[in-house]
Amino acid sequence: MAIRCRKCGREAAIMMRQHRLALCEEHYPEWFVEQTERTIRMFRMFDRSERVLVAVSGGKDSLSLWDVLLRLGYAADGLYIGLGIDGGIRYSDQSYEKCRRFVTERWPGARLIVVDVKEVYGETIPEVAARTLRGRDKPCAVCGLIKRYIMNRVAYDGGYAALATGHNLDDEVAVLFGNVMNWQVGYLARQGPVLPASRPGFARKVKPFCRFYERETAAYALLRGIDYIYDECPYAEGSTSIAYKEWLAKLEEERPGTKLRFYLGFLKAREEGQIRFATDEAELHACEKCGQPTSAPGICAFCRLWEKRRPARAVAAPVLSTEG
Ligand code: AMP
Ligand code: FES
Ligand code: ZN
Ligand code: ZN
Repeated sequence: MAIRCRKCGREAAIMMRQHRLALCEEHYPEWFVEQTERTIRMFRMFDRSERVLVAVSGGKDSLSLWDVLLRLGYAADGLYIGLGIDGGIRYSDQSYEKCRRFVTERWPGARLIVVDVKEVYGETIPEVAARTLRGRDKPCAVCGLIKRYIMNRVAYDGGYAALATGHNLDDEVAVLFGNVMNWQVGYLARQGPVLPASRPGFARKVKPFCRFYERETAAYALLRGIDYIYDECPYAEGSTSIAYKEWLAKLEEERPGTKLRFYLGFLKAREEGQIRFATDEAELHACEKCGQPTSAPGICAFCRLWEKRRPARAVAAPVLSTEG
């Protein structure tokens, strides 16, 4: 027997076992947009008088997030960072193409800021990684550092109230699980839907999709006809977070709602002071080269990456081009 939409009784497009809620192809996207708004308010992420920068990777989560924020009437610009990853599938080219078409075909008035790492700093992610890691490791850590730096820089310098990323519940739970497994106390003190701009130089970071399962963001993208890149980054294969996600999926399968309870329960217990983690309040100073706050002596970890290489362009002006 077909499962029916709770709102209209038509055939359901998705069943969310953890909420015991089934919705059709018309009512599901409505619900999804309303829930995003609730999350934004619940965690006081930003309001309609503020400008938001959405980091878009070309994937389903971040493009859906930008779509929802624009539908809700927020002043949301996009930021795409060109990493220069090929991996035999033209990964970065394809990702950029999805972001560009999202703007031209769906939201022609929207503004997409593009920062291409090679054009601005002289090397692609695999190139910096090969030079600095000497082939010992995957480029993911270097890539993460560079992405975080550029996102923060563009959001802060551009005067945005917040930087929004497409992290979903599955992402957050995998990170939380990893932080617990390794007792990363400093991370446990800070992980959450909002990371306040604690000091000048840092932008506020927000995750409006943190209460959605990955299958829910995928369903939204599908039902809204958003064209996104299906491939994962070619370097992601075999990562610890993917292994955690597989184990957590088994728990969720047997006990629907496990992930949501684990995550929201953690946030609540911390908020209410039932659990407390020491914060690593390192002394920060301005990087001697770029001025960003850093705990590293002298220059920051980002600038250190490029130390032996003169940047192709001024580090102070990462914004390359704006489309839309
Ligand atoms: P990931 O770390 O790849 O799981 O991505 C997490 C979030 O970071 C995405 O949902 C995006 O918001 C953002 N992001 C990842 N890659 C890029 C990129 N190349 N450009 C801009 N934002 C990105
Ligand atoms: Fe950065 Fe995969 S996205 S290494
Ligand atoms: Zn319906
Ligand atoms: Zn620096």
